Amino acid sequence: MLLFADTADTKVLAELKETGLIDGVTTNPTIIAKSGRNMFEVIKEICELIDGPISAEVAATDAPTMIKEGEKLAAIASNVVIKVPLTIEGLKATKEFSAQGLMTNVTLCFSVNQALLAAKAGATFVSPFVGRLDDQGADGMQLIHDIRQVYDNYDFDTEILAASLRNTSHIAEAALAGADCATLPPQAFKDMFKHPLTDKGLETFLADWAKTGQSIL
Ligand code: E4P
Repeated sequence: MLLFADTADTKVLAELKETGLIDGVTTNPTIIAKSGRNMFEVIKEICELIDGPISAEVAATDAPTMIKEGEKLAAIASNVVIKVPLTIEGLKATKEFSAQGLMTNVTLCFSVNQALLAAKAGATFVSPFVGRLDDQGADGMQLIHDIRQVYDNYDFDTEILAASLRNTSHIAEAALAGADCATLPPQAFKDMFKHPLTDKGLETFLADWAKTGQSIL
């Protein structure tokens, strides 16, 4: 499963990059606003920093303007993924981007039918929002399972990018559900490494090793 970082904070991205385990980045208008930076500058910097798909979202709501915006965003770097909302206009734009060979991430997906349409439009990625469905009392992870089944039924190439993930349980469940990728808040990514038994076990091993008086180097 590809692991993307859900942030436009380049300092944090540089730190996460050190692990060698970050495969891409997702942003949205809220994330760009939070960065306090010019969108083109920050996306360019992220594209240079991280070798992988970098999602940058259009702001228009009509297909012709989305297409112009998307083409401008895609010109930033070859690893830009044009992110479009899951609307009729967004999917019209997705078809056009697909025809041009540009990568797309269809976002704000909350149902199997929406995911089916995104795949038919030729989306590279579809982003089902797990956490926001959970927030409404629905079962967000079930949507990942259901989309997986539908995409497998019809051999769609669109990759399922589990989004709006909030914690490590979400990440593990998305992997079990067969998501192709997951986008993670930085803290959730860091939490993936942790287990109390790892800490406890290492403490014992180090104490016992010290008793031997040996040195490997
Ligand atoms: C990423 O593509 C999404 O925009 C993001 O995961 C949404 O997360 P949120 O629901 O926590 O805002």
